[in-house]
Amino acid sequence: MDKPRRCRRRLWRPALTATLTREPQQVGPIAARLNDILARRGIDPAAAAAGEPPAASVTALELADTRIPARYRRALADHPQITAWADEIARAGRPGPGGPGIAEGPSLLIAGPTGTGKTHQAYGAIRTLLACGVRLRWEAITTADLHARLRPRAGHDTERDLQTLARSPLLLLDDLGAARTSEWTEELTYRLVNHRYEHMLPTLITTNLPTAELRSALGDRVASRLAEMTERVILDGPDRRRHRST
Ligand SMILES: Nc1ncnc2c1ncn2[C@@H]1O[C@H](COP(=O)(O)OP(=O)(O)O)[C@@H](O)[C@H]1O
Ligand SMILES: [Mg+2]
Repeated sequence: MDKPRRCRRRLWRPALTATLTREPQQVGPIAARLNDILARRGIDPAAAAAGEPPAASVTALELADTRIPARYRRALADHPQITAWADEIARAGRPGPGGPGIAEGPSLLIAGPTGTGKTHQAYGAIRTLLACGVRLRWEAITTADLHARLRPRAGHDTERDLQTLARSPLLLLDDLGAARTSEWTEELTYRLVNHRYEHMLPTLITTNLPTAELRSALGDRVASRLAEMTERVILDGPDRRRHRST
């Protein structure tokens, strides 16, 4: 089997001036369009050109753009633990016809107060994997939406919805512990987390809850599994929504 490589294609901080002032390159119209798409996606075309043709990952990123909420469409994961995780997941990717697919791997629990960039980093990590060419099927949902989506209702197969999320090769479970809980939501969260725990499916979890409160908010069964399956990333600093310049 091929030796795993580090993903060379990185998402760069959008460097608009650098992109706009670069000397025009001797490229055909398709390559020029591709460079333009890359630049708009925050990828340095020169860095991308150093690797294999990026068409597949651009397509994946473009497709992802339609699913990533507008606020996080240009998000970059720049936290060292999160970029290290994305590198590890990309390296462990199972070889497949359209590029490496996502395999079993570690999960991350991104914790911190409101507005410290947890969701930003999580979508940034998904974008990094897509830019690396990982064939990524992913799902993202907030806990509040999870409860709403899976509430039993006539004519809707909520069990299938749960299975889709539980089996997704990569899941972003955003704001865990932020929604009201009940016995039913605790059971739901347990089934979801337990499936991902047992099958070692990479999961990005964000939470406002300090570690000490996880157990009382989520139940011991969930907290215990999270402790084993996730690496904890703590974000701090001011609420970025209120301190726009920081
Ligand atoms: N590293 C970053 N660079 C630029 N903007 C950021 C960064 N992290 C967060 N933001 C912005 O700050 C705001 C809050 O981030 P968000 O991820 O929603 O916070 P949280 O999920 O921790 O509540 C959003 O507008 C987001 O786009
Ligand atoms: Mg958030």
